[in-house]
Amino acid sequence: ENVTEEPTERTLVLVKPDGVRRGLSGEILRRIEAKGYVLRAVQLLDATTDVLHRHYAEHEGKPFFEPLVEFMMSGPVLAAVVEGEDVIKGFRSLAGATNPTEAAPGTIRGDLGRDWGLKVQQNLVHGSDSPESAAREIGLWFPGLA
Ligand code: TYD
Ligand code: MG
Repeated sequence: ENVTEEPTERTLVLVKPDGVRRGLSGEILRRIEAKGYVLRAVQLLDATTDVLHRHYAEHEGKPFFEPLVEFMMSGPVLAAVVEGEDVIKGFRSLAGATNPTEAAPGTIRGDLGRDWGLKVQQNLVHGSDSPESAAREIGLWFPGLA
């Protein structure tokens, strides 16, 4: 056994209320698994204002912050811990650009973000942007997870 090997990386993925509402949770999880990533934990929940304020703390004070939190409470969210080599960068690459109108074909936001005229916040998914964010966000959404 190679004990010097880096432990497999984890990221926090959210299917936002627009994705759940449109019945795209399965399609999004399918793309994650088809890529070879492993689902370590999955839950469907109504996010609280407390968790969302902490989740999006880096954006506090920006004009889109409160509307974003409101939108994230407009319906259930599917939260998942996803594991795999370089999965933090890899999932963001699967997700595509933040604005679905700019996201490349082949990405989740590029292929499925077809509701033109909607706000950028309705971009189907969230993925952690760094190992530090991933650890913080996994602790926030899955407090019981080892
Ligand atoms: P951000 O962390 O910049 O994007 P990403 O989700 O790609 O990491 O922003 C968080 C969320 O805030 C983003 O998914 C959608 C929303 N948002 C807006 O509504 N308006 C904006 O101008 C930006 C930058 C983000
Ligand atoms: Mg972000």
